[in-house]
Amino acid sequence: MERQGSLCLKVKPTRVLLFSFTLFSSIFFLSFFTISLSNSSPNTLSLNLQPISLTESSPNTLSLHSFTHNNFTPANFSFLIDNRLSRTLNRSKDEVKMVKGCDLSNGHWVFDERYPLYGADSCPFVDEAFDCQGNGRFDSNFTKWRWQPQHCHFPRFNATEMLELIRGKRLVFVGDSINRNQWESMLCMLLSAVKDPKRVFEARGRKIVKEKGNYSFRFLDYQCTVEYYVSHFLVHESKARVGQKRRPTLRIDAIDHGSSRWRGAHILVFNTAHWWSHYKTKAGIYYYQEGTMVHPRLNVSTAFRKALTTWASWVDKHINSKKTQVFFRTSAPSHFRGGNWNSGGHCTEATHPLKETLNTTYPEKNVIVEEIIKRMKTPVTLLNITSLSEFRIDGHPSIYGRKTRSSRIQDCSHWCLPGVPDTWNEMLFFHLQSRLE
Ligand SMILES: *[C@@H]1O[C@H](CO)[C@@H](O)[C@H](O)[C@H]1NC(C)=O
Ligand SMILES: *[C@@H]1O[C@H](CO)[C@@H](O)[C@H](O)[C@H]1NC(C)=O
Ligand SMILES: *[C@@H]1O[C@H](CO)[C@@H](O)[C@H](O)[C@H]1NC(C)=O
Ligand SMILES: *[C@@H]1O[C@H](CO)[C@@H](O)[C@H](O)[C@H]1NC(C)=O
Ligand SMILES: *[C@@H]1O[C@H](CO)[C@@H](O)[C@H](O)[C@H]1NC(C)=O
Ligand SMILES: *[C@@H]1O[C@H](CO)[C@@H](O)[C@H](O)[C@H]1NC(C)=O
Ligand SMILES: *[C@@H]1O[C@H](CO)[C@@H](O)[C@H](O)[C@H]1NC(C)=O
Ligand SMILES: *[C@@H]1O[C@H](CO)[C@@H](O)[C@H](O)[C@H]1NC(C)=O
Repeated sequence: MERQGSLCLKVKPTRVLLFSFTLFSSIFFLSFFTISLSNSSPNTLSLNLQPISLTESSPNTLSLHSFTHNNFTPANFSFLIDNRLSRTLNRSKDEVKMVKGCDLSNGHWVFDERYPLYGADSCPFVDEAFDCQGNGRFDSNFTKWRWQPQHCHFPRFNATEMLELIRGKRLVFVGDSINRNQWESMLCMLLSAVKDPKRVFEARGRKIVKEKGNYSFRFLDYQCTVEYYVSHFLVHESKARVGQKRRPTLRIDAIDHGSSRWRGAHILVFNTAHWWSHYKTKAGIYYYQEGTMVHPRLNVSTAFRKALTTWASWVDKHINSKKTQVFFRTSAPSHFRGGNWNSGGHCTEATHPLKETLNTTYPEKNVIVEEIIKRMKTPVTLLNITSLSEFRIDGHPSIYGRKTRSSRIQDCSHWCLPGVPDTWNEMLFFHLQSRLE
């Protein structure tokens, strides 16, 4: 959010720059056009215009860059630039502020019959764990809540527009099973705009199965892929000899070995949170490893901070922010009542969002993530979903996470689909859209 604020400050000088550019380009264009009429070599135009991409420090002009890669002839190039500029110049200061300064995380849930955005039985990508209605959940009101931020216009998700935004691109989710939850939601939301579902398929023919995490779905008509790579911690899970035994360790100083698959993505959505509260990570006894050293004991907060710093360095080193937009999704709340996930905790009875959230403090992990992101060279947008999801005790699979029901173990951590992760994706859509404008 801080970073977005600072982008606003750049608007003014950029406008001046853009304005002088208009003047310059008109003159340039007129003279060039006369020349090109005589020796007609359209290709030289795009070469000559390459320096324009220098202005892409402003989000308003980002799309100019991509023009230089296409075969635009002089005849339509000037039109496109003029169009772009007048749009930019027409936008009021308030409008720019609304997009950049609006706090999406502050708002309330509104019952809206136009939701859900896709039918539970029309999406083949929802796996058993999230297919609550398929597993026998009868109440469906939990699919009909829309998030309404307090002070901003939050557009309804439009799958066609989203597909256009990612046309020719790779949208990649990396993280734990909650990110897989969000990724499946995105597949379903996008599928609703595709006429022929056969033109959407997994690149290597893989079926979505639990516990596997290595998928790339291709949307042929848009030449884009929507991918998911499992990584519980974003850093490398390893093994090391401690005394006589080989023990599982976490290399908090080394990025996940799957990272080569994340590179080259155009939009990256990361998360890690839940696995840091499991016994091994919490106790931190002979578990965290740096180099060849396995810490006899390390505080989980310290370890989390080190791991995220490792992730941040990897992003700063390997991600070109001119090509790739990076998002980090904050932690999703669980709603176990009367126990924990393994000790009879439950949430079955909830069919309505909470009226108010228990005044839980903003999780320390999110605070750490925010601190680290602020210091990064690469701009990272936070998908700040923690507080809005706190209300949604009704959104979990509870006993409907399996076909065969067991009332003893409930899932109050993941989310039914359609459901709450659809809103997280609406936020992603909002950010991608406002970045363009
Ligand atoms: C630009 O003009 C060329 C030739 O007239 C045409 O082939 C191309 O599709 C146009 N591009 C756009 C984006 O309108
Ligand atoms: C910008 O403003 C001018 C003059 O008010 C108007 O003619 C033009 O259509 C506007 N452009 C856009 C894209 O709204
Ligand atoms: C679902 O919501 C509607 C509208 O608020 C309400 O009339 C209905 O009773 C709710 N159904 C259940 C099962 O809560
Ligand atoms: C989605 O966007 C497209 C293109 O802007 C538009 O034609 C369509 O009506 C929109 N769909 C909905 C449901 O708003
Ligand atoms: C993902 O698939 C690729 C290609 O089939 C394979 O090389 C890689 O090992 C797989 N990674 C995981 C984590 O399954
Ligand atoms: C970890 O250390 C922080 C301060 O560095 C402390 O506030 C926190 O209570 C410690 N956590 C555990 C589980 O020991
Ligand atoms: C949460 O805090 C607000 C103000 O800080 C208070 O009005 C409200 O009663 C609190 N709610 C609960 C459930 O404690
Ligand atoms: C995210 O949301 C929480 C709770 O609404 C808020 O305290 C925090 O400042 C937000 N973070 C950012 C970066 O906006």
